Amino acid sequence: MSQFTPDSLYANLATLDGRRSVPAKQLTGPAPDDATLLRLLQSAVRVPDHGKRMPWRFLLIRGDARHALGERLAARGIERDANGGEAAVEKDRLRFSHAPLVVTVIAKLGPDEKIPEQERLLSAGCVCFALLQAAQAAGFGAQWLTGWPAYDAEVARWFALGDHEHIVGFIHIGTPKLDAPERERPDPRTLLDEWIP
Ligand SMILES: Cc1cc2nc3c(=O)[nH]c(=O)nc-3n(C[C@H](O)[C@H](O)[C@H](O)COP(=O)(O)O)c2cc1C
Repeated sequence: MSQFTPDSLYANLATLDGRRSVPAKQLTGPAPDDATLLRLLQSAVRVPDHGKRMPWRFLLIRGDARHALGERLAARGIERDANGGEAAVEKDRLRFSHAPLVVTVIAKLGPDEKIPEQERLLSAGCVCFALLQAAQAAGFGAQWLTGWPAYDAEVARWFALGDHEHIVGFIHIGTPKLDAPERERPDPRTLLDEWIP
């Protein structure tokens, strides 16, 4: 299998192939308004979901809350690493101040008699990806970020996460300040084997 089918046969793939992240630092206002955001989320929840568990929910961070969160992160970052340096503190302070809207995607995991936790986590990951796709399709730019705040117990407390809830992504959404550069993409032929019994 060395040849690709010509693109002209699959026009709809152009949309998928055009997806790329816009770095959060390159995002500015306007953000999607409330009606548009709900529409994007409507697309984002159309993900595979074994057992229809809906193992995800959303927490918005926008407006002044972004800056308040940045102040807390700067202080928390120093608590975590007092020798991190001023640049690290500043990075934490500004983490949520670039894009006008951040959608936190939270996976709801924990015991389940039938559906393995991994499958529910994967479904939550799909939500993140689908939200990126939806944002771009609606003319916005977006980037999926995590960093230490996604895994920090104190941040989880600020967000009032439940015992089995985990942040799987901060989806930064806004209007691109510039065209995001493309990066080299993997060639699937280098990743492909065939199982022969
Ligand atoms: C779960 C997850 C977490 C990520 N966290 C970060 C992050 O904290 N910082 C970062 O620079 N990129 C992060 N990325 C990568 C970006 O989302 C993005 O893939 C990257 O900027 C390349 O852009 P592309 O989506 O156009 O390939 C993460 C990706 C995933 C899937």
